[in-house]
Amino acid sequence: MSENDKNKLTTAAGAPVVDNQNSMSAGSRGPLLLQDVWLLEKLAHFDREVIPERRMHAKGSAAYGKFTVTHDITQYTKAAIFSEIGKETEMFVRFSTVAGERGAADAERDIRGFSMRFYTEQGNWDLVGNNTPVFFFRDPLNFPDLNHAVKRDPRTNMRSANNNWDFWTSLPEALHQVTIVMSDRGIPETYRNMHGFGSHTFSMINADNERVWVKFHLRSQQPIKNLTDQEAELVVGKDRESHQRDLLESIDQGNFPKWKMYIQVMTEEQANNMPYNPFDLTKVWYKKDFPLIEVGEFELNRNPENYFAEVEQAAFTPANVVPGISFSPDKMLQGRLFSYGDAQRYRLGVNHHQIPVNQPKCPVHSFHRDGAMRVDGNKGGTLHYEPNSYGQWKSQPEFKEPALAIHGAATQWDFREDDDNYFEQPGKLFNLMSPEQQQVLFENTARNMNGVEEYIKVRHIIHCYKADPAYGKGLADAMDIPWGNIEAALA
Ligand code: HEM
Repeated sequence: MSENDKNKLTTAAGAPVVDNQNSMSAGSRGPLLLQDVWLLEKLAHFDREVIPERRMHAKGSAAYGKFTVTHDITQYTKAAIFSEIGKETEMFVRFSTVAGERGAADAERDIRGFSMRFYTEQGNWDLVGNNTPVFFFRDPLNFPDLNHAVKRDPRTNMRSANNNWDFWTSLPEALHQVTIVMSDRGIPETYRNMHGFGSHTFSMINADNERVWVKFHLRSQQPIKNLTDQEAELVVGKDRESHQRDLLESIDQGNFPKWKMYIQVMTEEQANNMPYNPFDLTKVWYKKDFPLIEVGEFELNRNPENYFAEVEQAAFTPANVVPGISFSPDKMLQGRLFSYGDAQRYRLGVNHHQIPVNQPKCPVHSFHRDGAMRVDGNKGGTLHYEPNSYGQWKSQPEFKEPALAIHGAATQWDFREDDDNYFEQPGKLFNLMSPEQQQVLFENTARNMNGVEEYIKVRHIIHCYKADPAYGKGLADAMDIPWGNIEAALA
């Protein structure tokens, strides 16, 4: 086919389109004809162009890159991606805001999503994290409610600070995450200028089939830069796509952003002796007890060619792990193992693994058959049952993980009875801040709670007070709430 022929318009079935400007009518001023199948095809396809947006993290930006191992961690993991220093693995990374819809502005006060896909020779490993090390709560039952509270109110169809803060302050364990989001780090200037975290506790398993617990940290090699509320207002007023523009243009200009990967490691024995639950997503592991161990680095160096095909159709899930990297009893992680694949079967269809950005770059011999949009030949005549007498579809028991000891009876255990220390870590975080940063935290929170019922403000101030009296008092001052009101509520 000549270059000239390639530009010629056809229907989806490959037939020439005779006229893409004038629909077929009965007479020059008459009604249109049902036999104008090109018009029907064009409108019908257009009517179906929208797919559901991600329920959370709908607005995002992504790029391809490569991960390089710089330090040996084979004592902890047998994962092939980490097998030798210098080893490179292709990656795809998607950053996002959380609460806004697909058309929302980027420079908003919100957590940022930090999803990493490593195309390893043992399958896709997805580390679907955030730019914060903790989360608002510890039980996946709370997640749909968070979504309802931070998104639009059912009656007004507007975001509601009252709903948002009513929910957050009803869960005292949220204070750690809320303190981070309201701090001077609450609006990253760009996706390049922020750190990332796997957040959950994961496991690593080595060649001797020994398990350790790990947390992942991604440290930006660009300076950390954030916007104040006032700066963000100016940015949003001029450019709703400031993060997308920055990432796209930086990579187009050959200015490739980089992050270093570190892990924290905890032995099973250390976990048994921890003063708090090491699988609690509202808490960090202190770096002085569990120092950062350097692992590798990644750079993003190639923009997607087509946003819809590659970014919108990307399906990251924490369930995608590879031998040597696995889950933990973190209840939030356990809930996520179900939710992502389920969302994607609805959002993209049951065969979304076949979309190129989601395809592993290693041989795949998956048992699944049929389903909407099966486009890979469906395994032809390969037999489709197991067990069988022909050696097809063999399990791989050599990758079985070490057994995990579990204790106790099955019931809805109340984690508040296990640990009601919600305030110590947010208090420590508050104390790491300079007086100027603390003042910024007070003012950001006061502005964000503007219009919220006073009893909700008081509830929040009391939580902050319990984290550190200066945190509560500073906030009450910034909100012009007399301290007597707080003392009355505390009594
Ligand atoms: C997106 C559920 C907690 C990070 C999503 C999506 C769902 C979901 C359904 C949309 C997936 C899609 O349509 O492709 C949940 C549930 C949670 C939870 C049920 C708690 C039980 C978290 C936590 C983090 C996180 C703790 C980070 C540590 C993300 C990110 C995305 C996302 C980064 C966007 C993925 C992408 O870039 O495509 N979440 N989530 N989520 N979630 Fe969660």
